[in-house]
Amino acid sequence: MPTEKRNRPRVLIPESDLERRLDELARQIDADYADCPELVCVGVLKGSVFFLVELLRRLEVPVVMDFLQASSYGSGTTPGEVRIRKDLELSVRGKDVLLVEDIVDTGYTLRTILDLLRWRGARSVKLCALLDKASRREVEVPIDYLGFPIDDVFVVGYGLDYDEKYRNLPYVGVLEGDL
Ligand code: PRP
Repeated sequence: MPTEKRNRPRVLIPESDLERRLDELARQIDADYADCPELVCVGVLKGSVFFLVELLRRLEVPVVMDFLQASSYGSGTTPGEVRIRKDLELSVRGKDVLLVEDIVDTGYTLRTILDLLRWRGARSVKLCALLDKASRREVEVPIDYLGFPIDDVFVVGYGLDYDEKYRNLPYVGVLEGDL
């Protein structure tokens, strides 16, 4: 069987379901921030990019957009250690911040970023995540706006990668078989 055929991800969340859920999330966020003069939307690179763009296109509340990038380290370092590799350019002091992420797994990355934004004096910080792999959680992370809970499967697409590939799939898929 040709490699690309064998490795084509199985559809887990089709594009139509993603679009419907994005519409719902945007309506909910608009309602919750109806009195907000400017919502600072922070995407966590790289996985959040597709979700962030599609979400922000649907929002009516005034937004500004910024990005940060974090990396967690595995063997040989402290478990759960997260480093900021690219920091924000905007100040969040006194601002309402919406952190936008593709997936919450162990929770270490989001826990660290949420704490950092609060420490920097954000007026409020909420989390919007497309996917929640709750069975993998090691530290508590409250998700204010959630797209879909998922099982512990390896997902790609809609921003999520395997070895930097598959991010541009228009759906969330599951990689099966030989990688
Ligand atoms: C993924 C995801 C989150 C983090 C979640 O990013 O986008 O940022 O892992 O994992 P955690 O809950 O266990 O901390 P990744 O490091 O794969 O980088 P990427 O977004 O560039 O793909």
